[in-house]
Amino acid sequence: MDSSLVYNYKIVRQFAIATVVWGVIGMAAGVFIAAQLAWPALNFDIAWLSYGRLRPLHTNAVIFAFGICGLFATSYYVVQRTCQVRLFSDRLASFTFWGWQAVLVSAAISLPMGFTRGKEYAELEWPIAILITVVWVAYAVVFFGTIFKRRVQHIYVANWFFGAYILAVAILHVVNGAVVPVSAMKSYPVYAGVQDAMIQWWYGHNAVGFILTAGYLGMVYYFIPKQAERPVYSYRLSIVHFWALIFTYMWAGPHHLHYTALPDWTQSIGMVFSLILLAPSWGGMINGMMTLSGAWHKLRSDPILKFLIVSLSFYGMATFEGPMMSIKTINALSHYTDWTVAHVHAGALGWVGFITMGSIYYLLPRLAGRKQMWSMQLVEAHFWVATIGIVLYIASMWIAGVMQGLMWRAVNPDGTLTYTFAESVKASYPYYVIRFTGGLLYLSGMALMAFNTWKTLAGTVNVDARIPLPHAPAAMPAPSHA
Ligand code: HEM
Ligand code: HEM
Repeated sequence: MDSSLVYNYKIVRQFAIATVVWGVIGMAAGVFIAAQLAWPALNFDIAWLSYGRLRPLHTNAVIFAFGICGLFATSYYVVQRTCQVRLFSDRLASFTFWGWQAVLVSAAISLPMGFTRGKEYAELEWPIAILITVVWVAYAVVFFGTIFKRRVQHIYVANWFFGAYILAVAILHVVNGAVVPVSAMKSYPVYAGVQDAMIQWWYGHNAVGFILTAGYLGMVYYFIPKQAERPVYSYRLSIVHFWALIFTYMWAGPHHLHYTALPDWTQSIGMVFSLILLAPSWGGMINGMMTLSGAWHKLRSDPILKFLIVSLSFYGMATFEGPMMSIKTINALSHYTDWTVAHVHAGALGWVGFITMGSIYYLLPRLAGRKQMWSMQLVEAHFWVATIGIVLYIASMWIAGVMQGLMWRAVNPDGTLTYTFAESVKASYPYYVIRFTGGLLYLSGMALMAFNTWKTLAGTVNVDARIPLPHAPAAMPAPSHA
C-alpha cells in the first residue's frame, strides 16, 4: 500500500517498547540506590557500583530513557492522528530512534565509569551532548514538519504542549551545554561561579517544566479525552493555561538556590513566580479531571483511565507542594532533606510515571491490531501495586525529610546543636527501608507491564492504520465548552 495513505506506527511501536524496557532498567537502578541508602555495604567497594555513579544513572535512565522514549512514542502518534498525515520523514524518524538509543547506551556506560559534567540532569559529557543535539534537531524537523504538512487546519492543543517541550529542551540543552572540552571525555563550563549555578538551575527547573510537565500535558490532552470518550472540558482553558504555564516556568529556577550566593532579589523573583505557577498548573489539572464529567463511572472498571486520572491527582499534589517549598522560610526547612526527594517522586512516580503508563497501555493494543491488552487484570494489578508503592515512598520520605530538617535546626539552651548529623542519618534508617519497599512494589508493577506488553505484542506484526480520507470528521471530539 502507498505509505502516504497510512500512519507510521512502526516508529511509535519501537519507542513504546523502548519506554517499557528502559522503565524497568531505570526503576531497578532506583531500587538499587534506595537499598544502598539503607544498607551502604551494597556498593561492594566497587567504584562502578558506588552511589555517586549510580544515582545519575538512575535519574538519566528514568528521565531521558523511560520518560523521553514515552514522549517520542506519544508525540509521534498524536501529531499524526491529529494532523491526519503520515510523519514528515520516516528516515529521520527512524534516525531519532536509533540515535536516541545510542545516547542512552552511551549514558549507561559512561556514567558508571565516572565520566560526568557534574551538573544534575546535564551529566553527559560533551561528545554525547553533541549527539543529543543532532537527534533533537531531527526530532524537531519530524515533528514540526508533520504539523506543517497537516491536513487539518487547526493545530490541536496537545501539539502545542509537545511543540513547546521540543523547542524549550533545545534551548536549555544548548545554553547549559556551552563548555570548553579539554579531552575526549572532560569539559568545563564557559560560565563561572554563581552565573554557572544560575544557568544550571534555569536549565534544571525548566527540564521539570518542559519535559516533566509540558510534554506530559500533551499526553493529558489527547489520551484522557480519547480513553474517557469525552471532549476536553474547556478548550479555552487549555490555551490560557498553556501560555501562562510556559511564561511562568521560565522565571522560577532560582527557588533551587535559596540562601546561596545568588543575589537575594533573584531568589525572591524565583519564589514569587513559583507561587504564581500554582494557578496555571491547577488550571491544567482541573481541565484534565473535568474532562471526565459525565463519565466518572468509567473509573470503576477501566484501569487505564485510573492511571490517567490518578496521575493528574499527583500532578495537582506536586504542583501545590512545589510552590509551598519555594517559600524561603519553608525551603529553609525542606532544602537538603528527603522532603525534596518526596516531592520529586510524587511528581515522578505519580504524575510522569502514571500518565506515561496509561498512555502506553492505550497505544499498545492499537499498535498490535488487538482490541485490548493481553490481560486487563494485570493492568489493574499494576495500578494497585504501583499506587501502594508510591504511597509508601512519598509518605516515608515526607516524614524522614521533616524529621531531618527539625533535627538539624534543634538547638540546646546554650546554643549548641542538639543532634549530630550522624544521629539524623541513623534516625532515617527505618524510612529508607520503607522507601525501598515502596520502590520495589513500583518496580514490580513495571515488571507486570513488561510481561503484559510482551504478551500483547508477541506474534503480532506492525499495523499501520489508514489515514481517513479528506473531509473525514475531525480527529478529536469537539469541546463541550468554548
Ligand atoms: C508549580 C510547580 C512546581 C514548583 C513551584 C516546584 C518547586 C520546587 C521546589 C521549591 C523544589 C525544591 C528546591 C530545593 O530546595 O532544592 C523542587 C524540587 C524539584 N521538583 Fe518541583 N516544583 C513544581 C512541580 C514539580 C513537578 C510537577 C515535578 C515533576 C516530577 C517536579 C520535580 C522536581 C524535581 C526533580 C526537583 C529536584 C531538583 C533537584 O534538586 O535535583 N516539580 N521543586
Ligand atoms: C522504583 C522506582 C524508583 C525508586 C525506588 C527511586 C529511588 C530514588 C532514589 C533512592 C533517589 C536518590 C535520592 C537521594 O539522593 O536521596 C532518587 C532520585 C531521583 N529520582 Fe527516583 N526512584 C524511582 C523512580 C523514579 C522515576 C520513575 C523518576 C522520573 C520519572 C525518578 C526521578 C528521580 C529524580 C529526578 C531524582 C533526583 C532527585 C533530587 O535530586 O532531589 N525516579 N530516586
